[in-house]
Parts: sequence; structure tokens; C-alpha cells
Amino acid sequence: MTSSEIRRQFLDFFRSKGHLIVPSAPLVAKNDPTLMFNNSGMAQFKDFFLGNGTPPAKRVADTQKCLRVSGKHNDLEDVGFDTYHHTMFEMLGNWSFGDYFKKEALEWSWELLTDVFKLPKDRIYVSVFKGDETDGVPFDQESWDIWKGIIGRSGEPDDSRIILGNKKDNFWEMGATGPCGPCSEIHIDLRSPEEVAAKSGKELVNADHPQVVEIWNNVFMQFNRKADGSLEELPARHVDTGMGFERLCMAIQGKQSNYDTDVFSGTINLIEQLSGRTYTGKMEKSDVAMRVIADHIRAVSFAIGDGLVPSNAKAGYVIRRILRRAIRYGYSYLGFTEPFMCKLVPLLADQFADVFPELDAQQEFVATVIREEETAFLRTLGTGLTRLDQIIEQLGGAKTIPGETVFELNDTFGFPADLTALIAREKGLSIDELGFETALQAQKQRSRKDASYSAGDWIELQDVDTVEFVGYDQLSSWSQVVKYRRVQNKQGTQVQVVLDKTPFYAESGGQIGDTGRFDIYFDNGGEMTSVPVLDTRKENNLTIHILADQPGLDELLQLADGQHAAGVSAEVDAHRRELIADNHSATHLMHSALREVLGPHVAQKGSYVGPDALRFDFSHFGKMTDEEINRVETIVNERIRQNIPLDEKRNVPIDQARAMGATALFGEKYGDFVRVITFDPTYSVELCGGTHVPSTGQIGLFKLTSEGSVSTGVRRIEAKTSEGAWTVINEQLAVNSALKELLKAPKDVVKAVQTLLDERAALQKQVELLENEKIQQLKNELLGKIIFVKDSEIEAPTGAGKTEAALSFLVERVTVPNADALKQLAYDLKAKVDNIALVLGADINGKPQLAVMLPDSLIKSRGLNAGQIVKDLAKHIKGGGGGQPFFATAGGTDVTGLDAALAQGRVLLNL
Ligand code: ALA
Repeated sequence: MTSSEIRRQFLDFFRSKGHLIVPSAPLVAKNDPTLMFNNSGMAQFKDFFLGNGTPPAKRVADTQKCLRVSGKHNDLEDVGFDTYHHTMFEMLGNWSFGDYFKKEALEWSWELLTDVFKLPKDRIYVSVFKGDETDGVPFDQESWDIWKGIIGRSGEPDDSRIILGNKKDNFWEMGATGPCGPCSEIHIDLRSPEEVAAKSGKELVNADHPQVVEIWNNVFMQFNRKADGSLEELPARHVDTGMGFERLCMAIQGKQSNYDTDVFSGTINLIEQLSGRTYTGKMEKSDVAMRVIADHIRAVSFAIGDGLVPSNAKAGYVIRRILRRAIRYGYSYLGFTEPFMCKLVPLLADQFADVFPELDAQQEFVATVIREEETAFLRTLGTGLTRLDQIIEQLGGAKTIPGETVFELNDTFGFPADLTALIAREKGLSIDELGFETALQAQKQRSRKDASYSAGDWIELQDVDTVEFVGYDQLSSWSQVVKYRRVQNKQGTQVQVVLDKTPFYAESGGQIGDTGRFDIYFDNGGEMTSVPVLDTRKENNLTIHILADQPGLDELLQLADGQHAAGVSAEVDAHRRELIADNHSATHLMHSALREVLGPHVAQKGSYVGPDALRFDFSHFGKMTDEEINRVETIVNERIRQNIPLDEKRNVPIDQARAMGATALFGEKYGDFVRVITFDPTYSVELCGGTHVPSTGQIGLFKLTSEGSVSTGVRRIEAKTSEGAWTVINEQLAVNSALKELLKAPKDVVKAVQTLLDERAALQKQVELLENEKIQQLKNELLGKIIFVKDSEIEAPTGAGKTEAALSFLVERVTVPNADALKQLAYDLKAKVDNIALVLGADINGKPQLAVMLPDSLIKSRGLNAGQIVKDLAKHIKGGGGGQPFFATAGGTDVTGLDAALAQGRVLLNL
């Protein structure tokens, strides 16, 4: 059975059991501060377990793209070194939201594995939660009994293959807080009959044996883990299951390793071809490298396909690191020195076209982004190697590279520690691993501190599971509080409030959250307290209003619980919302204009829509020309002036919306019903949840303020509209007027400025000439002041008695424009006069400067040193300096001491 057939049979099976088949959520988790990537099938359904929102059906099944590279579930470092862990993998799952429970779930899993997939019954082991006293959760007798019945039917001694598991293995939790419950795992023993005869598989369950692996986990969601660590019962009991697709393929296809299944074999073959090496499936360095690459290319490609780009922050950084891990394995162990990962993308896109078409649709973009990253990182590896050579040279015989240095190489050059260790080993050196680990932990600690966020438990006031959003039609509403909690983050303590009904738009799809205020009335129409709303955010399906904490807030919120004659008048800041709508609608107009001007490859990669400006990231290689920018601006402004009315359609079936030609974004999760925003059906039709202008004329004006690159293949445009655009233009005009006034109202300002610049350059030249002349003059004057000494006799300064053996002395205060000129002067005099010893001082714009020059003869005969002399003299000018024995300079702060310095110079030179 091929992997595609296995996947299809899984979905068909659960469809036949009344399940709705839904698409995978994107890899990147949205609207969940506790999660960076979807790490399990249930992540996208988290809220339904907690009782927020309504699932699309009571029974659901899918295959979910998962990534376990951060947080509670992180397998990154294992990948490559074993045969069954992955960064990205598919999790086949079936869910019951308050519908069936343990019996059906376990019966069906057995039926699917043994009847449909025909896995041998006697090779299957199951585990049951043995209970945990601290959590107060008892032994899962029910699951035990169900399994006993099922396995008993197959004629086995009923409990010979049931294992009791502890909290670590048999109590599944999504993260530190959130829905959780006891679970029952299904393991399979894929060893040879001889091995099975020698040792029972039961002993190898959960013992990291590569052929005795867990394939399926059935979680019985019954609890919510609260921030204080305690468990609370969920309002209903649910089933959440997850089966590792790649492991299932290994079992069904009778392979020893996930990498031998057809999920990976195509990619491994291609890596073999590209590298010219053979995959042996063992633990050779080249085998590990091939597994790492075959695994990582999936994580990276699908993440980019879901809208992420490698970057230096957050999720983008995780993807960059995964990609770099693969590149360096390829570089170190397979001899790849040119981009190679990008060449694997087309095969992957083709392989998954039927199940995850987003990769196929963007394969060129994905491959190009990967290629550029590879090129850059391979260059970095080169730089790192050179730097490492320098470091090794500077070790001066020491045999260990300090941990700090290894860390710096890693942190600054992206040069990984294990590669440093490898190269060090080749040169007979080692690295200080402990020191490196310490530096790494210190950095982790720092970033944890930066990202620290802790949420208290919700204080629930009412049992309301769906929050009504009324903000498309009104900007205020009379609402009640559903629940609230306190949250600590970098800003301090904030209070998060959920209302039963709200006009506040929660940040999403790039549009910033609304601000405004809650007017909390003690009793309807009576006394009132106003509390500012600082921001509105989405967490899964909840709209959360963020309030600054203030004394007495609890009492106020608790009164507005729907039981008392109190409530919240929720008021959105209307003007701010209007500006946001201007920018959002302008973003749509611009998106279409960009596709018109640059081509249909333009796809949105990110956006910011605020009251102040809009920012739009999109796929495009190469800088936009001035002409392209101009055309985009012109088109958008034309559309604004046409005053096109908004056509907003809510609850449009997704297929119908697509048929209307609506632009959907990759990496966005759309439900079955969507909202469609149209400004002229032939111009701009987008799936969008944001708020918009009633007609484009309200935008007033659109002005692009910058265009640049954000990362490989992604450009960023910033622009302003309405008041913001007006302000930008006014600021520019004001600069223009000020210039005109300064230039005495010329006809052509640009020409006038050019003339000024030309004149300035000509003047500069003249000044230089004059300065040179002056210095020449000064030199001549100074030549006349030189004192010649021969055999201790002082001769007249005419030069008449100058002989080979004569010494020349000069100590003078001079006028020069800068320190360089002083130095030049000293050197010129030295070139002209033999054996000259001089001390020159100058006042350069109020700053004293000294230069001392000595001839070799004096240095030798009298043991003088210009550096020492200048240091002594500099004391008079409150400064310091130094140089070589024959020439030294000093600068100071007290110009009044200059003459004293020169006087001492005379003494030191014995004049
Ligand atoms: N949520 C469960 C898991 O990821 C099924 O193992």
C-alpha cells in the first residue's frame, strides 16, 4: 500500500464512522501565545475542548502537518540519529467533541489497524494510565476493561499485552497549561521473529527501541491544567487521537525505518544522486546527514509554503536554524558546497500535491527562498572557517578552544558548535563544551526573560461559549463580562477581559486591534467608571480586551456578570478605527495594483494595518523601479477617486468565494464560510475579516513612503493614506518652501541647490590652495628660525656654518588648520634639514596640539625619545599622546599651557 493510499484509507474509515474530514491547519500557529507551531492535531481545536466556540461537527478527522521543534514537544536534536523521529510529520487524528468516548475510540483504532490495515494483532501492545496521586487522577479502569475485551476477542490471554503507564507516558498535555487527560497508546513490534522469540516486545515498549514504536495515541480530554498546576474538569469529555503517519507507513509497508518508506525514499534517492554517495540506512555520518536533510527539507518547505520566511526572529528564526542544520550536515558529511536543498523542493511539491497543494502552488518561490538562504549560509560557513583558522592560530599552543569563542562563532557567524568541534578534532584540538553550554544557557535565560509571559487562570463569571462580534456594524455595544484574568508580561500587569458581545476588532490578518474604553455602569444608567482599553487581541477563538490594571477593577468587572443591574458600555475609538479602515482598504487596492504592475506572482507575505500607516510584504524578486512605484501609486489614487463602494459579503461558502476569484492567502486558515471584501468585482476581491471604508473616496489620498527588501524574495512597501498621507505631503512641501526662502525664491530650487554645491566645491579647492601656500610660507619662516649647533658652539641661523655633523633645533608655536597639517609640517622640515630636532605647538580651533621630532643621532647619543618627551610636555596642556622614538604627537584640552609646554621643550632639548 502506498503512503497516499494509507492516508486515504484512514480518512475514509473515519468518514464511514460519521466524521467530517477537515483540512490541516497551517504549520505556523496563529492567535495562540502558548504555541509557535502546530505541534499536534488537536492544537487547532484547543478552544473547543475548553468550551469556547463550536466545532464544525461533533466528529472530525484529518491529517495535520505538525512541527515539533520548540516548546514542550521538541524532537529536533534526535532527528537523523534515529529512524522514527521527525521535525515535521503528519498526524492522522480523529476527534470527538463531547460525543463518543473511550469505547468507540479504542474499538475503532483496533478495527482500523487490524481489519483495514491488517497489522498483526499479536504484535500490538497498548498502554493504560495507572493513575497519579498528586494530580488526584485514578487508574483508567474503563480503558483497561475495554482493551481486555478487545484483545480477549482475538484469543490472546486478555491482559498479556496491556501495559500500565505513568504520568509521563500516559497523561497527555498540550503545554504547561490547557486541555489534557489520560491516554492510551498503541505500540507495534516490528522486529524479526527471532528477535521476538528472544525477548518479549512488552519489555521494549517505551524503551526507545527503533522497531518497537508508538504509533497511535488516544487521549481522553477530561481536564484543563491551570496556571497554578491544578486540574479542573472540562465541561464535557472529548477524544483526541494522533497517529504518526510516517510510522504507520513503516509498519504497513514492512520497513525498518520511516526513511525506508515511500514517504522519504524519493527524497533520499535524489540526495544520493546529488551527492554521489549511497545511503546505507546505518549510523554512518553520511546516513545521518541524508536523514537530516530528507527530514528538514519537509519542515522548511512546508513552513515557507505556509507563509513563513526564514528570518532572525521568532518562528522565522526557528526555520532558518532547521535549514542551516541540514545545510551543515550536507556540507560536512556529503561534500555539498553549492546550494542543494532547493533542488529537493520540486519532488516534494509533486509528492504532496494531492494532500497539501499549497507547496505545489508555490514551489518556485519556496525553492528560490531556500536557494538564497543556502547561498548566504554556505558563504557564512566559509567565513567561519577562516575565522576559526585565525582563532586556532591565536591559541598559541593551547589545546582547547574556549567555550565563549565557540559560542561567539555560533552566535555571530551562525557557525555551529558541533562543526567547530569537528574541525578542532581534525587539528588535534578540542572545544570547551562546558563553557559553550554555559554561554548558551545564559543566552537562553536572557531570551526567556525577554519573552516572559505568564497568565493567571480565568475567573469565569458566565457560561457563554461564543462571543458575538458586532464591530462591522457598530462601534459601541452594551455588554456583559464573561470572564477575566491577570497577565504578567514586560509591560507589567494587565487585565484581559472577554465580553459576551463586542464591537472591538481583535488584531488579526495584519490589522491592529482596536483601542477605546469600557464605561462600566454600576447599575444601568447610574454611576459609571471609565477604563481605557489598550489593545484587543485574539487568542484562538476568543476576543480579549486588554486593560491596564487598576484598584477596584475586580469588583467592577464582577458586577457586570449579567446577574446584576450593571454592564459595560464598550466604546471603540471611532476616529482611530476610521484611519485603520482607510489603510486596510488601501492595502487591498494596492495589492491588486501590485499584481497589475509586477505580475500575478505577487503574493502577500505579511502586512501591518494601523491608524498611522500600512505595511505590506509580498513575494517579488528585485527592487521596484521608480516607474513601477509611480504606476502603483497612480492606480491606487485613481481607484480612490472613483469612490468605489464597498461590497461586503459575510458567510459566503468558501468554494463560492474562490469561484468569485477571491484572493486567499497561503498559511491562513479559512473556515467553510468566509467574508469577501470587494471593491469592483473586476479589480479587488479578497477573503478578509478586517474593517473597511464604505467607499474608496474616504481614503482620500495614498502615498507610498518606502520600498525595500525584508528578506530573500520578499519586498516591503510602506505607505500612508488620508490624514497621514496629507501630513507627509505637507511636510515635504514645508521643506520645499523653507528651501525656497533660504535660496531667495529661485525659479528652480533643484538648479539653485546644484549651483550652490558647485560653488562650494570650487571654493573648497581655492581654500586648499591658499592653505598650501600659507604652509609653504610658514615653512620658509621656520627655516629661518632654526638654530644650528656644532661641537657645542651656536652658529648664526643663516645656515652658513651648517656641516655634516651639525645638529639643528627648532621650538616654535605655529598656526596651522589641523593636526595633520602640523604633522606634515614636521615631516617637511625633517626632509629639508638634516639632523633636526623640533618641538612644534599649535592652537587648533582652541585645542592645543604638539609634535616632537628627533634625529637618530640625538636618540642614540643622548638617549632621548620623542614619545617620552611629548608625554612630559602634554602635561602642560592637560592632555596626552605618544608615538615612536623619532616622532610623536599629543593633543590636549588647555590651550593656555601651550607656551609653557614649548618652554619646557627648549629645556629638554638643551637650548
Ligand atoms: N494530542 C495527542 C498527541 O499529540 C493525540 O499525541
